[in-house]
Amino acid sequence: MESEATQTAKGVLWINGELGDFQTAQVSLEDRGFQFGDGIYEVARVYQGVPFMFAEHIARLFRSAAGIELAIPISGDKFSSIARELLNRFPSNGAEIYIQITRGIAPRNLLWAEDLQPTIIIGVRPLRFVPPALRETGCSAITLPDERWARCDLKTICLLPNALAKKRAARAGVFDALMIRDNLLTEGTASNVFLFLNQTLVTPAADNRILHGVTRGVVLKLARERGYRVVEREVKREELYEAQEVFLTSTSLELMPVVKINEHTVGTGAPGDAQRELLSAFRCFVREHTTQRDLELS
Ligand SMILES: Cc1ncc(COP(=O)(O)O)c(C=O)c1O
Repeated sequence: MESEATQTAKGVLWINGELGDFQTAQVSLEDRGFQFGDGIYEVARVYQGVPFMFAEHIARLFRSAAGIELAIPISGDKFSSIARELLNRFPSNGAEIYIQITRGIAPRNLLWAEDLQPTIIIGVRPLRFVPPALRETGCSAITLPDERWARCDLKTICLLPNALAKKRAARAGVFDALMIRDNLLTEGTASNVFLFLNQTLVTPAADNRILHGVTRGVVLKLARERGYRVVEREVKREELYEAQEVFLTSTSLELMPVVKINEHTVGTGAPGDAQRELLSAFRCFVREHTTQRDLELS
């Protein structure tokens, strides 16, 4: 038997109105999330006990839901109040809020009935560990074909191609895979990608081929405010080798420099100045935006 403290340390969750924890909460094997990967999710980060960009994550959750024709039966404010309650039960400086909504439970059939009750899970758990040394040295990556579907702008729980790419990267001894579709860079397995190329910050445009990352949005805004030339456009695979800097962005990674791609060394082989400046601007932005009022969605 685990002590309550151990269980609590692993996180707390709310599942269709009931409080529980990640170890013991259960869903039916006839849940369409389990059967078909028929669901969506969000991951938001908590800094100093306060969710960061929570309204943006909830807005994307509603966009993902609309994209898979799923009506979320609770309001954005309700997500906010449940998150607040869970954070009270799981006090921690750094944590993540995980939200998952599946279409609900029904006998296995591709065709769903209109009256299904979605399964809603909202959890707070410890942050995923990112080795601090990796940010100092920068990480390595390989390029792999992007094998995903045509709506990568929706944050669905169907992550098998991402999981395969991550595993293949790990087998190759590197941190992540940069995915390539039709010779164009899309994104990392769980991150967006930026290049600093000819004094310009370049990142793939926010269309259906990538997730419109919340961190990506913040970095673009901060870069423009700091006077960087910023371009959102198609990025050819070869440009990865021409860039002076490459870095990943995500809720868990914040900004993570990539210093080696396949056999190619990026720039000097160390994290670059643009990435460093933008990471420090990002950290300032986080500090400014994690005050109590950001728990409110309004
Ligand atoms: C495929 C993919 N792209 C990009 C991101 C980054 O998004 P965000 O900055 O909102 O965390 C994620 C985050 O998990 C992701 O899974």
